[in-house]
Amino acid sequence: MTKHALFTPFTAGKLELANRIVMAPLTRNRARAEDDTPYDIHVEYYTQRAGAGLIITEATQITPEGKGYAWTPGIHSQAQVEGWKRVTDSVHAAGGTIVMQLWHVGRVSHTSLQEDGKAPVAPSAIAAGVQTFDGSGMVDTSVPRVLEIDEIPRLLEEFRHAAENAKAAGFDGVELHAANGYLLDQFMKDGPNKRDDAYGGSYENRSKLTFEVLDTILGVWEPGRVGIRISPFSGANGATDSDPAKLAEHVIGSLAGYGLAYLHMIEGQTGGPRAWPNETNLDDLKKTFGGAWMGNNGYDRDLAIRNVDEGHADLIAFGVPYIANPDLAQRLKIDAPLNKADPSTFYGGGVEGYTDYPFLSEDETRKVG
Ligand SMILES: Cc1cc2nc3c(=O)[nH]c(=O)nc-3n(C[C@H](O)[C@H](O)[C@H](O)COP(=O)(O)O)c2cc1C
Repeated sequence: MTKHALFTPFTAGKLELANRIVMAPLTRNRARAEDDTPYDIHVEYYTQRAGAGLIITEATQITPEGKGYAWTPGIHSQAQVEGWKRVTDSVHAAGGTIVMQLWHVGRVSHTSLQEDGKAPVAPSAIAAGVQTFDGSGMVDTSVPRVLEIDEIPRLLEEFRHAAENAKAAGFDGVELHAANGYLLDQFMKDGPNKRDDAYGGSYENRSKLTFEVLDTILGVWEPGRVGIRISPFSGANGATDSDPAKLAEHVIGSLAGYGLAYLHMIEGQTGGPRAWPNETNLDDLKKTFGGAWMGNNGYDRDLAIRNVDEGHADLIAFGVPYIANPDLAQRLKIDAPLNKADPSTFYGGGVEGYTDYPFLSEDETRKVG
């Protein structure tokens, strides 16, 4: 039996985790079309993965305005709270721990996905230059309108409401999605953010909205149950910064002292190279943060074991491997072979490529275990 720290329990803030293996947030576009609500297949999918030390849900929109793709779930309506409650009850009954990723897409949306065909909102009226899925095909994201400064209290109230709803739905905590070129990341990066008001210009101004949202969530949840995901080095969804190393230092420095459950860092280009600026030292950033560091991006078993054993990370989040391996934590523990993910069923559809990836059989477990 292996003694690697990856397979041992860990306490992240107030979250007591059975191991250091985390299911990364994964959008799967399978919510009920009429009301963006999770249902039976979501209950099964997440329960199958309850062996993870922590499950982070797929990104979940806080409002209709925060939606950017067809069939993604929300957490703004009562039906959605009830749908998610079935998920959390079932994951808890299976011994798992689960937090919800709170999401506003900002400009990564299309008018057809917005109420009354309105333009999506963003720090500045600059299109993301990427595509989204509108339910029938891929479409260019729409040119957004500027989120006006006097709308920010309304936005914060929407985040507060969503955080309350996540609590009512029985989650163990929430993760604030401040990564991958969505609204908060759009504000933080000087590519999409050309504002000249209190939310643009300096690093402090650009990250102001993220910290206001964080403070709002902390009015609902204790810090030890709140995580945050950032991707300062990633150009995902067209959000780039002219100095990602400085941006990372600023944001992580400002997060220190909050006593959050964890910092979830996408180490490099989301779903791409594990690469960051030469002047960036992730160990230094981890030290600056001072709390639990969750590493993600391109991890395999060896790298995960090594980085946790050597203290570079406390927790490792796996994305694509968790799509294809409901029992990933068990497979990694006994060094069993992994199922291969099928990208053609990542987004949309039903149970195929969702809940039908096989678990290890008893025979296979005996062979490697
Ligand atoms: C199908 C798919 C959906 C994703 N959805 C989300 C999401 O909802 N929220 C998020 O923060 N990242 C999302 N990501 C990024 C993953 O969480 C993760 O950062 C990425 O896959 C790299 O990790 P990996 O190499 O372990 O797969 C998604 C990635 C994929 C492949």
